[in-house]
Amino acid sequence: MSVDYGKGDVGWFVQNRFGMFIHWGLYALPARHEWVRNYEQITTTDYQKYFERFNPDLFDPKAWAKEARNAGMKYFVITTKHHDGFCLWDTKFTDYKATNTPCSKNLLQEVVDAFREEGLKVGFYYSLIDWHHPEFTVDKIHPHREMQSERAANGKRDMKKYAEYMRNQVRELLTDFGKIDIIWFDFSYPGEDGKGCDDWESEAMVRMIRKLQPTIIINNRLDLPGVGDIHTPEQYIPTEWPKDENNRQLVWEGCQTFSGAWGYHRDEASWKSTKMCIEMLINHVSLGGNLLLNVGPTARGCFDHRALQRLREIGEWMRFHSRSIYNCTQAPQHYPAPPDCRYTWNPETNRLYLHLFSWPFKAVHLPGLGGKIEYAQLLNDDSEIAFHSHQDEVHSSLDARTPKGASTLELPIISPNTPVPVIELFLK
Ligand code: GLC
Repeated sequence: MSVDYGKGDVGWFVQNRFGMFIHWGLYALPARHEWVRNYEQITTTDYQKYFERFNPDLFDPKAWAKEARNAGMKYFVITTKHHDGFCLWDTKFTDYKATNTPCSKNLLQEVVDAFREEGLKVGFYYSLIDWHHPEFTVDKIHPHREMQSERAANGKRDMKKYAEYMRNQVRELLTDFGKIDIIWFDFSYPGEDGKGCDDWESEAMVRMIRKLQPTIIINNRLDLPGVGDIHTPEQYIPTEWPKDENNRQLVWEGCQTFSGAWGYHRDEASWKSTKMCIEMLINHVSLGGNLLLNVGPTARGCFDHRALQRLREIGEWMRFHSRSIYNCTQAPQHYPAPPDCRYTWNPETNRLYLHLFSWPFKAVHLPGLGGKIEYAQLLNDDSEIAFHSHQDEVHSSLDARTPKGASTLELPIISPNTPVPVIELFLK
């Protein structure tokens, strides 16, 4: 018998398709990965210098929110607390919070207000892992994992108290900030020397959340079977629409970074190009998913110039092409996409969107679409695209090559001036 944990409202979510992830905290100061404490086994004492220096003097959440909205993002998810345990809001349950640093602001409140003002829905990331909390037992990924004295002290630690601390904090987050649309937990690693749903007391957590905010979306990282309104692949794109064990399509959201880290990482150089980011967004939607694209603001409270450049270029593309993203999903399977192309489909308007990752010479053949297209145009300028079917008696040089059952679009030699051109197909 499966337990009923209630369901979040995913209606708005699957229409909106594109959100901003924000990873911000003390790790912006070392600026070499948000896992720096784990990677370098930094003790709580040695990490304290970042707490004492945290002073984001250029923090301007209104500017962040504008950038997100201009990029075409419709919701955001921010780290209220990451694995280092540092909290961005004025929580009553720990002193390890922004209001006690030189910054002394309730940063979360200001971010929520600014993003709401720009019309974005609000999501809270909350780390299940906490390398600062005294009751959190030292395990295989803890920065103190190799300190024998710390390991020995596990006997005096009480994960039940930690689980209660988490419930207290999540209650605060879901009570003091108005309607919250998503709660995004991270993450479980059950098994030897790890932690999972019994440690987090996930069941009690979910029951509390559903009382406080019945329709909130809860992600799938609590390690509790039956809980997970959204499936959350990270740093890869699935090759097909993810399904559950009963072969039902899952609501899913891929989370991806611009470069290799989530928190601000000064020297990380593997930044994806704007074109790659746009293709990523299309790839997600073409498989029925959302993209949550991450920004790691600097310790001064700004978006890094490399992130800004990409956000703005994505926004420029979205200005002309968002019709192929919002309210769109995977295309019917009897329309296989041609090479180097991806379809998305708006079921309401029955329009199919052909995204061309590389621009072909003169023609593109669309299998299964012979006789099915009513009108075709480039999306960037609504300029007409001529087409014909295999069965049409067209005496063009292209006609002979149109495969049976296909339609052929006749393309200009010069590609439109945009990273990923899109052709809008009005189906009969
Ligand atoms: C991983 C990492 C973490 C990041 C998260 C985003 O689980 O632990 O640093 O916040 O992915 O999905």
